[in-house]
Amino acid sequence: MAESTYLRVLGASAGGGFPQWNCNCANCRGVRAGQPGLTPRTQSSVAWSRDRQDWLLFNASPDILTQLRAQAQLQPARALRDSGIAAVLLMDAQIDHVTGLLMLRERGTPLPLHATPEVLGDLASGLPLIPLLGHYCGVQQHPLALDGSALRWPFLPAARLEPLALSSKPPPYSPWREAPRPGDNIGVSLVNERTGRRLFYAPGLAEIGPAVWQAMQAADVVLVDGTFWTDDEMIRSELGTRRALEMGHLPQSGPGGMLEQLARLPASTRKLLIHINNSNPILREDGPERAQLAAAGVEVACDGMEIAF
Ligand code: MLT
Ligand code: MN
Ligand code: ZN
Repeated sequence: MAESTYLRVLGASAGGGFPQWNCNCANCRGVRAGQPGLTPRTQSSVAWSRDRQDWLLFNASPDILTQLRAQAQLQPARALRDSGIAAVLLMDAQIDHVTGLLMLRERGTPLPLHATPEVLGDLASGLPLIPLLGHYCGVQQHPLALDGSALRWPFLPAARLEPLALSSKPPPYSPWREAPRPGDNIGVSLVNERTGRRLFYAPGLAEIGPAVWQAMQAADVVLVDGTFWTDDEMIRSELGTRRALEMGHLPQSGPGGMLEQLARLPASTRKLLIHINNSNPILREDGPERAQLAAAGVEVACDGMEIAF
C-alpha cells in the first residue's frame, strides 16, 4: 500500500513564462543565451497523484502540451487514447491558469473541472472557455464550495483537499477586477491521510490572513506565491507600471513580505516559492537574493520537481 502522495511541478513560472516571448530584461536575455545559473520555466501548473497514473491537475497552463511532453509520468498510455489527467482544479481564472483547457479538447468525454462559482462565472462570460469547450469535449462542472467541506477523488484514495478563499485579485478581464470576492482566488491544503502529512499550495497570494496562516502552520510543505521580489519590481525595472500588491501578489522582500512570514514557520516546514515572474532576481541561482533564500531555508520551485508527502 503506497504511503506517499506526489506533487509534480509542471510549470513554476508566472504568466509569460521564463523567458517571456517579448522580454529582453537581463533575466530573459540571459536564459535565452544559455547563461549559467538561469533555468527556463514554463507557466504555472502542478499535479497531484498517489499512484503516478491518475493525476489531479491544478490549473491548465498555456504551456500544457510542452509540459506533458516533458513529463512522461502524466502519460500512462493505458489505452489507445489516454491521459493521466483525471480531473482539473483551478486556483483562479487567470489566463496563465486556464487557457490550457483548450488544449485538452480532444478528450473523448467531458473534462471534470473543479472551480469556485466565481471562477466558473468568469469562464462563462469574460473568457468563455466553458461554452466554447461545449463544442468539443465539453466540461463537467463541479462548483467548489468554500464552506469548510473537503474534496475527494476515487483516484486519490485516502487523500483529501481542503480549499480556502484567498485575498488576491480576479483577472484583468473580469468585471470584478476592482471588487474582488472570496472565491476569485483559492489556496488548497492537500492532505495525505495515510501519513497525516499536509501540503499548502497558493500560487497567487496577496495577504496572509488568519485562515491562510493557520493552513500554513499546519502544513509540512508550503508552496506559495513567489511572483515578485519587491512591490515596485515591474516599475523599477521599467517593465510595467503596476505594483505587485495591485496585481494580487505579496512580494518576498521587505517588511511584512513573504520571507518575513515564512521565517515565522517552524524550521521543519519545507518552504518553496512558485509562480516566479521572469523579472524576479531570485531566478539567478548565483545571485544574492537566492543566497538570502538559501540562508532562510526557502527553495525556488522548478519545472519537473516532485515533492513526496
Ligand atoms: C498573475 O498571476 O498576475 C498572472 O501571472 C498574470 C498573467 O497571467 O498575465
Ligand atoms: Mn499568474
Ligand atoms: Zn524578462
